[in-house]
Amino acid sequence: MQLSGKTVIVTGGSDGIGRHICLKLAAEGCRLAVLGRNSDRLAAVVQESRDAGALQVRSYVCDMADAQAIAATAKAVEEDFDGVDILINNAGIWHKAGPLDTITDEMLVATVQTNLTGLMQLTRAVLPGLRRRDAAAILNVSSKSGVVAQAGQSVYTATKYGVRGFTDVLKEDEAASGVRVAGLYQSGTNTGMFAKAGEEVPNHIFTEPEDLADVVVFMLSRPAKLWMHEVRIEL
Ligand SMILES: NC(=O)c1ccc[n+]([C@@H]2O[C@H](COP(=O)([O-])OP(=O)(O)OC[C@H]3O[C@@H](n4cnc5c(N)ncnc54)[C@H](OP(=O)(O)O)[C@@H]3O)[C@@H](O)[C@H]2O)c1
Repeated sequence: MQLSGKTVIVTGGSDGIGRHICLKLAAEGCRLAVLGRNSDRLAAVVQESRDAGALQVRSYVCDMADAQAIAATAKAVEEDFDGVDILINNAGIWHKAGPLDTITDEMLVATVQTNLTGLMQLTRAVLPGLRRRDAAAILNVSSKSGVVAQAGQSVYTATKYGVRGFTDVLKEDEAASGVRVAGLYQSGTNTGMFAKAGEEVPNHIFTEPEDLADVVVFMLSRPAKLWMHEVRIEL
């Protein structure tokens, strides 16, 4: 897909991998709807994206655990940008690793809502508009944890396996509509995700988020006859 001029929603665009996806897509001349919760970080990404060459960029405060906010944001983006070409579902949280009974109910619910339920709700809201475009795509940022069972990650892994199942079925469902669907399954990436959950990890050995963002641009910019449905990245 030719990315220049395309309108892209990036969830979790205020930080980490999503921020770098925004900056790389800005350099490609995209129009960006950047979603997140933290308005200061969102404002910074809006400015950085403008500086990097985005044709148009707006931020939206939207909690992915709030179904009403998701529906309202999807509507607002459609109106502000006169349609959407690409949805990148990237927002996600980590719960500190440990056996299931060490994960609080609050954390369990927040992880499922943010990583899986909200992703499906936003996709459902944006999908009819995507089908009206000549070329459209949905890229879901899952994880290696969407493919491999690793100890201590029960709830996180359940959400990421869920995203993989959702991605695979959506691809089948949308085959005739022309909306391309892809999943990205990466291992540890050097962002603040683990620290936000109070987890200490050897972040410095992990993949850099800007390199992962390059992969996203590569996946989306392939010609129409070559679609990368699934990319797996490990250290
Ligand atoms: N880092 C890794 O090692 C790694 C590995 C595999 C997969 N992943 C996946 O990659 C994606 C991005 O992770 P990251 O490493 O970039 O994490 P990050 O640096 O912590 O950034 C997470 C982003 O998600 C947003 N977010 C979190 N909870 C939200 C909510 N309830 N509503 C709306 N936005 C919310 C944050 O926005 P605010 O700050 O504005 O709230 C932030 O922009 C996630 O889906 C994660 O599971 C990460």
